[in-house]
Amino acid sequence: MTVDLLLGLQWGDEGKGKIVDVLTKKYDIIARFQGGPNAGHTLEFDGIKHVLHTIPSGIFHEKSLNLIGNGVVIDPVIFEKELKNLEPYKINLESKLFISRKAHLILPTHRLLDAASELAKGKSKIGSTLKGIGPTYMDKTGRNGIRVGDIEIKNWLEKYRKLSDKHEQLIKNLRVDLQYNLPELEKEFFKAIKTLQKIKFIDSELFIYNHLDNGKKILAEGAQGSLLDIDFGTYPFVTSSNTTAAGACTGLGIPPNKIKDVFGIFKAYTTRVGSGPFPTELFDEFGKKIAKIGNEFGATTGRPRRCGWLDLVALKYAVKVNGVTKLMMMKGDVLSGFKKIKVCVKYNNDGDEISHYPFSLENNLIPIYKEFDGWKDDISKINKFENLPKNFLDYVKFLENELKVPISIISVGPDRKQTIIC
Ligand code: GDP
Ligand code: IMO
Ligand code: MG
Repeated sequence: MTVDLLLGLQWGDEGKGKIVDVLTKKYDIIARFQGGPNAGHTLEFDGIKHVLHTIPSGIFHEKSLNLIGNGVVIDPVIFEKELKNLEPYKINLESKLFISRKAHLILPTHRLLDAASELAKGKSKIGSTLKGIGPTYMDKTGRNGIRVGDIEIKNWLEKYRKLSDKHEQLIKNLRVDLQYNLPELEKEFFKAIKTLQKIKFIDSELFIYNHLDNGKKILAEGAQGSLLDIDFGTYPFVTSSNTTAAGACTGLGIPPNKIKDVFGIFKAYTTRVGSGPFPTELFDEFGKKIAKIGNEFGATTGRPRRCGWLDLVALKYAVKVNGVTKLMMMKGDVLSGFKKIKVCVKYNNDGDEISHYPFSLENNLIPIYKEFDGWKDDISKINKFENLPKNFLDYVKFLENELKVPISIISVGPDRKQTIIC
């Protein structure tokens, strides 16, 4: 059997959580393959909104199993809070949730190091979520990290202390004003480690191969977005993992030839949290209107998201990098009532017109827009593709033609039910 991937094509927050939840009934296993609690995936059904950070978005479905893969970094403290939020729903987590022994742990000092490094960068800070993501992946690739499976081994506390001491030294070297109380943070951390141990640790790649051999279907859930990919994103304003399709191979141990569909999710406009270039960013009333109607505030940090028009140049690039086979367009409802809608089709790069995504988006890139007539009608209650307004459908058709990939889902609201299968 094969694996399908679902990933964000922009700078994150495209609505991955919602769509994974919608699709889960078709899959046996939902598996996160990278990122950590920098992610905030929102699901809404029965009038309740849920935000997940580390736990896969299939957790609310009765049958599906949920796996946190080896490519993920886990903060036990945040994980414990997520479990607590799930308590009212009486989910049998012992039989439904599994953690890879090879996933890396975010230590309290990873979080501190993240904060110290951002302080040291000053104005050129990444705008990280301060969840310790960068430092944890640095220790992973630097071969110093502590993995979930290590806590089953006796001497792990020695390893922990050595690494934590090293982090404190690194923080000192950065000479920033960072106040912290490590004993307090460690108390919370070791308590949370006990909670983490209530969940089954497994050799997740073998778990996946067994299930594939038994004909089971797997959906790999991406976090962040393609433009935040460590290799292909707007470096250095990116996250520290491969958010693109290849990340699912390394982050779960999935052989490339087992991947079938790659679902690419994008918003009908663009948002970005944190620093970094964003050519189509709007600083005018339209940007504010999108932010307000779209409720564009980070699900993890609560920070306001920067908003702008859809960037087709960047989107085409993301479609290529991921080999997207099906597109899903989110939040078209937010644009209802706009007289005109714009899409960036090229950039003016210091006088030259370019239609490719350049090495750096930080140059004087000026977007060249194509304008569309908007639609007046509220589309949030429409549940059939053919009932969508003509101007909306024209917009969809234009995007499909340009991207050369069909749009298979149109989302018109945050709720599970506000989903049109095309
Ligand atoms: P993720 O990180 O990709 O899972 O996305 P987030 O959960 O961070 O952000 C998406 C936000 O948009 C959430 O608040 C969702 O509830 C909401 N949302 C998802 N799809 C739609 C949609 O089609 N329309 C509207 N208005 N909101 C949506
Ligand atoms: P989901 O999965 C949006 C951004 C941060 C910052 C940069 C680096 O919800 O789409 P990090 O903490 O990873 O070192 O931050 O990446 N970022 C996200 N932006 N959605 C996310 O996840 C993000 N995860 C990280 O704002 O600019
Ligand atoms: Mg999010």
